[in-house]
Amino acid sequence: MSQGTLSRDPLERRSLLNWLLGTSVGAFVVSALYPVSRFLIPPRSEESSAQTVALDVKPTEIRSNSGRVFKFGKQPAILVRTPAGELHAFTAVCTHLQCTVQYREDLQHIWCACHNGHFDPVTGKNIGGPPPRPLEAYAVNARADKVVVSRSAPA
Ligand code: FES
Repeated sequence: MSQGTLSRDPLERRSLLNWLLGTSVGAFVVSALYPVSRFLIPPRSEESSAQTVALDVKPTEIRSNSGRVFKFGKQPAILVRTPAGELHAFTAVCTHLQCTVQYREDLQHIWCACHNGHFDPVTGKNIGGPPPRPLEAYAVNARADKVVVSRSAPA
């Protein structure tokens, strides 16, 4: 009886088995750690690079005591016409945990629904709730046929 394959060196079989076991355990560890590492190290969020946005709306069409959210680059922003008729624009990203804010006509100011945060519609100042900082203000230029919002804050 030939003992060709059966008589292989047990050390050789053991090393093959160890290699298979080692690579399996290694693959398992990598497949388990990769999603954890992706969770712990989130991808960089991209800053909005837009400096100016022209909104296709006539200033006269925006009624008093209202607000509208629009895209400013990759981030939401909010255009507000106060009850006194002034136009103001801010980032719509809440300074607490980055929810998108909205204008509340009944409160006559900017409000964040996530944790009941409140912002002044003229200055963007945080006036209630957990937001720690004001909203970033943008410059508003009302033209005859459109509203231009730019990143440089009004002086
Ligand atoms: S995210 Fe706006 S109040 Fe918390």
